[in-house]
Amino acid sequence: MKGIVLAGGSGSRLAPLTNTTSKQLLPVYDKPMVYYPLATLMDLGIKEVLIISTPRDLPNIEALFGDGNQFGLTITYRIQSAPNGIAECFLIADDFIDEPVCLILGDNIFILREELLQLRRFVQEPLDTAAILLCQVQDPERFGVANCDEKGRVVKLEEKPCTPTSNLASVGLYFYPADVLDKARQLKPSARGELEITDLNNIYLQENRLNALRMTESSLWLDAGTPDSLLQASVEVEHEIREHGNPVGYLEVLALRRGLISETSFEALVTSLKPGTPYREKLRQLAFGRDA
Ligand code: G1P
Repeated sequence: MKGIVLAGGSGSRLAPLTNTTSKQLLPVYDKPMVYYPLATLMDLGIKEVLIISTPRDLPNIEALFGDGNQFGLTITYRIQSAPNGIAECFLIADDFIDEPVCLILGDNIFILREELLQLRRFVQEPLDTAAILLCQVQDPERFGVANCDEKGRVVKLEEKPCTPTSNLASVGLYFYPADVLDKARQLKPSARGELEITDLNNIYLQENRLNALRMTESSLWLDAGTPDSLLQASVEVEHEIREHGNPVGYLEVLALRRGLISETSFEALVTSLKPGTPYREKLRQLAFGRDA
């Protein structure tokens, strides 16, 4: 399975923070936001990644990760020239999608626990149905929302409904079989002029090919697209690292743990940072439980 990180959008809800830079490059604790979705893909076992962003922001994201080789990944880049909706990313990625694909939104931060095994299975096994994750939220009107029948089965997904029928939000992590491109080509722009990911998911739902998993309470999902959620993301990430030693978003440590890079390559990444740099100390602590 390949991965797509969509780091588009104008980030208008974060203005003026985003007036001159990408939302996905804003800090979440000690790393740019886009580290986290990339780390999630890596944690799921995905090694080939396409990052899509705006004409203004893509060069900076590319400067950050290059070809991904330092993390044992292959990263390529493409531009989304206008905010035409999340589902447009599949049209942009057309020739990249020759196998099932996992899409993660560049402003979504996950700390996954119980779900990890199941999601890793989607990545490893041939996938014929799409899969989405649902998470209980206080403010469902901000998200794609699942309408369920009396047995709790999802019957329809609705994008940012004024009067949500449930508090189950569809989070920004999606798994699709390789026919996602054909489905994306069937989409028409919504009333707000976008190719909606929710419409795409409804196509799979109508075909009875959508697996909607509910996130367990042990896991955490944050959409860092507003000032409050951005602040909350930093607080949660710092807490997770300090309390549990979980290397959330540390691509270098994950690459080492997953055997994507050697210990020598990891050391080279660490020593490329100046001695005394907090990030350098964190990397060694999280990887080996000792100081830099
Ligand atoms: C997008 C999707 C929405 C999903 C959300 C998750 O919303 O359209 O269905 O629930 O991401 O973060 P947006 O980020 O465009 O507000």
